[in-house]
Amino acid sequence: MQKIGLSNLLAPVSSHEFLNSYWPYEPLFIPASENKLQEIFSLPQLQDLESLVAARLLKVRACLPDFDDEYSSIHVEPKDALKAYRNKMTLVFDQMQTQHPTIAEALKNIRADLGLVTGGAENDLCRARSIAYATPGGCGTRLHFDANANFVIQIKGSKRWRLGPNESVDNPTERFTTGSEEMPAALEKQCHAPLIEELPEGSMEILMEPGCVLFVPRGYWHETMTDEDSLSLNFTFSQPTWADVFTKSLQEVLLQSPEWRELADGLEGTDQDRKNKALARFDFLVKNLASDLPDISGQQLLIGGGLLRSSEE
Ligand SMILES: [Fe+2]
Repeated sequence: MQKIGLSNLLAPVSSHEFLNSYWPYEPLFIPASENKLQEIFSLPQLQDLESLVAARLLKVRACLPDFDDEYSSIHVEPKDALKAYRNKMTLVFDQMQTQHPTIAEALKNIRADLGLVTGGAENDLCRARSIAYATPGGCGTRLHFDANANFVIQIKGSKRWRLGPNESVDNPTERFTTGSEEMPAALEKQCHAPLIEELPEGSMEILMEPGCVLFVPRGYWHETMTDEDSLSLNFTFSQPTWADVFTKSLQEVLLQSPEWRELADGLEGTDQDRKNKALARFDFLVKNLASDLPDISGQQLLIGGGLLRSSEE
């Protein structure tokens, strides 16, 4: 059987063109073409919602109708999922890569083709995952943006999408849904302009039909609506930042030193003398590190931190 990777997912657009002209910032809609992704479309559990539910081992998220956003959801047993669906609740099937090796394999290959860093199984920076969405007709997702990048394959039915660039924040590390009462504190610090409440007229509109593929970049505004029942399969990737890569590799390197493994003692508390000593100790370590940094290359840091393999190995 053919190995599914980025090039099969995006065909007839080449991986090279995608990585040069779209990834990671520009959305891309690819209309359906014949015989594409047959390995996925022929999976028995993706033939209809009933089959997907019957094959399901884990719980399913059912989105509450009060706030049409997947993060306002409850976990239900697979046996209760269809009842929730008939009550107009969108179903979210997390961890689809555990449902079938074909999906797991595709996810792994796409991540590798994108060149996304993981940093190892523990605290995986990329958190590649596959999610299926079953949306009843007449439902949708309100306007939001995600902190991760998404590749959507429409499996059954159709879904209308509207998308627009985010002019308020570059490279957000948090998702945001319009109408939310609170904005994550980290996001508030990242925004350089107020967030929009609706997409402007003339925004990009797409009809996803079976076989269509859509790339939704991190931070890109989108909302969806279904006129009929819809089933889609996503491949989702967190977006490891330079800050993530730096802090993770630096932590690994620092933990090789007994001084940096010392207890950060006395930082909090009422004893001002202990606190001053703690601050002085930390300042000493930071200044020492700063004086070492000019001699350390990014590559050395990554290798020391286990995020990059030495080319000599
Ligand atoms: Fe989204």
